[in-house]
Amino acid sequence: MRFTADHMQQGNPSTGATDGHGDSMISQKTAYTLPSLGEIQAEAEYRHEVSAFVRQAMEEGDYLKPGDVEKLVIHGGHPLRGEIVVGGAKNAAVALIPAMLLSDEPCTLMNVPHIEDVQNLVNTLTYMGATVNYEPGRVLSVDPRTVHTTAIPAAYTEKLRASYYFAGALLGKYGTCDVGQPGGCSYCERPIDYHIRGFRALGANVGDDASKILASGKLHGARLEAHNSVGATINLVLAAVRAPGTTVIQSPAQEPHVINLCNYLRQMGAIISHVSHNALTRQSEMIIQGVEKLRAAFGEVDPDQIEAGTLMIAAAATRGELTIRQAWHRHLDALIGKLLEAGVVVDMQEADVVTIRPGIGVRRNVEVITDYFPGFPTDLQQPMTAFLTTLKGRSMVVEKVFTARFPQVRYLNSMGANITPVEGGHMGHHAIYVDGVERLHGAQVHATDLRAAASLVIAGLMAEGTTEILDSHYLDRGYQMFDTRLRRLGADISRHPA
Ligand code: EPU
Repeated sequence: MRFTADHMQQGNPSTGATDGHGDSMISQKTAYTLPSLGEIQAEAEYRHEVSAFVRQAMEEGDYLKPGDVEKLVIHGGHPLRGEIVVGGAKNAAVALIPAMLLSDEPCTLMNVPHIEDVQNLVNTLTYMGATVNYEPGRVLSVDPRTVHTTAIPAAYTEKLRASYYFAGALLGKYGTCDVGQPGGCSYCERPIDYHIRGFRALGANVGDDASKILASGKLHGARLEAHNSVGATINLVLAAVRAPGTTVIQSPAQEPHVINLCNYLRQMGAIISHVSHNALTRQSEMIIQGVEKLRAAFGEVDPDQIEAGTLMIAAAATRGELTIRQAWHRHLDALIGKLLEAGVVVDMQEADVVTIRPGIGVRRNVEVITDYFPGFPTDLQQPMTAFLTTLKGRSMVVEKVFTARFPQVRYLNSMGANITPVEGGHMGHHAIYVDGVERLHGAQVHATDLRAAASLVIAGLMAEGTTEILDSHYLDRGYQMFDTRLRRLGADISRHPA
């Protein structure tokens, strides 16, 4: 146990980040006591049934380790029923974990999801020499004081996109990094020029070698532009929080995971504020006053709005009745609106409970246009497309965030869907028409990325007959024991060697 009563004296700010509703980056200066590991575990057990579930499933052997097997087999036609608790957010966890390196003291995180991306980050921290204590699905504690290298080989970094957050964190703390290129889902080109430009503006010399992020320099506050990019905003925040002077990040991403990260850094003592100039156009700035040191923090990964959304879509698509807890409404407005428009009954209770009911009316076509938060999340576009396939009439999906993200279409069509590209796109963006069909039928399909895998799982649950999803390991990157949990909701889904 490395936390001591001394930390109490420092009066860490409480962020309000874990109250189930608060996205505000306005901190309240309340005294904050770091709990013991035992207390953390007890709290995690109590507050996160999903953690208990993960442990139970592991004890019962009712899961297979990510990467063990390659194929999912689904016998469709079983509506999802019951209740489920959403786990910690992938895209928040993968930012918060590298952020732990920035502290000068040990840090703890609760509600860390048991997914492959997290395991890969934990492995990387261990490789770097950090002292790591990880209980999958529950608690991660990291003591960065034992880190002995700022170089991370590609063998670690190419396993996931978020490995590039180590560049911002290492640069921010040690003034140097040598980080292999990131991997991640590759449905289209995903440049990192905004990150590199930002690092340079902060005073880093960044090498031109495309195979790695090699940078060093004495950083200082600067005026930066993030272009609403989630990755660039997070990397620039990580690099800037310890840089002397004031950094202003224009057009920062405002996704929930960005807020989760800022709140965690504030617990460490970072000074970050957010000024909105125009809520409608999302014109805003993030202002960071660099601090010399960061202290211990005890935080929590917010619930995953994409997991919540995927479950909502799956329940709607199978005409099930599913109650989803830890589904924060304020993160899900855009999806809730579209489900209601399509004729699904969405029953919202409290601020974080949603029940999806089938309803009796005809399900009608809708138009889905992805956008930055609070718009419709691109990460739900692929799962949503599966749901649209059997709505009456012609739906349209426009992908505004990425230049392309439709690898699922080919396989949905092989299951009987009628999806065609919108010739010439829609206002400069790739778009598809989804003409509703009576039903989907099972087929052998390939998952090509994480959200394509989720899309095909939903299609398989909807379809008549048997669906085999090859390369289903993609699902494990971001969904916590998804097939095991769906099975407990009535799905007929199982894993097999390919
Ligand atoms: N972009 C640039 N240059 C940059 C950075 C981004 O041109 O330097 C462009 C991208 O090509 C894209 C747009 O800006 O067209 C937005 O990209 P963004 O940087 O916001 O995406 P990201 O950071 O690469 C994160 C999530 C994605 C999620 C997007 C959008 C993580 C690890 N990844 O990606 O999550 O789709 O934001 O919300 O947080 C997923 O979970 O399946 C996933 C892909």
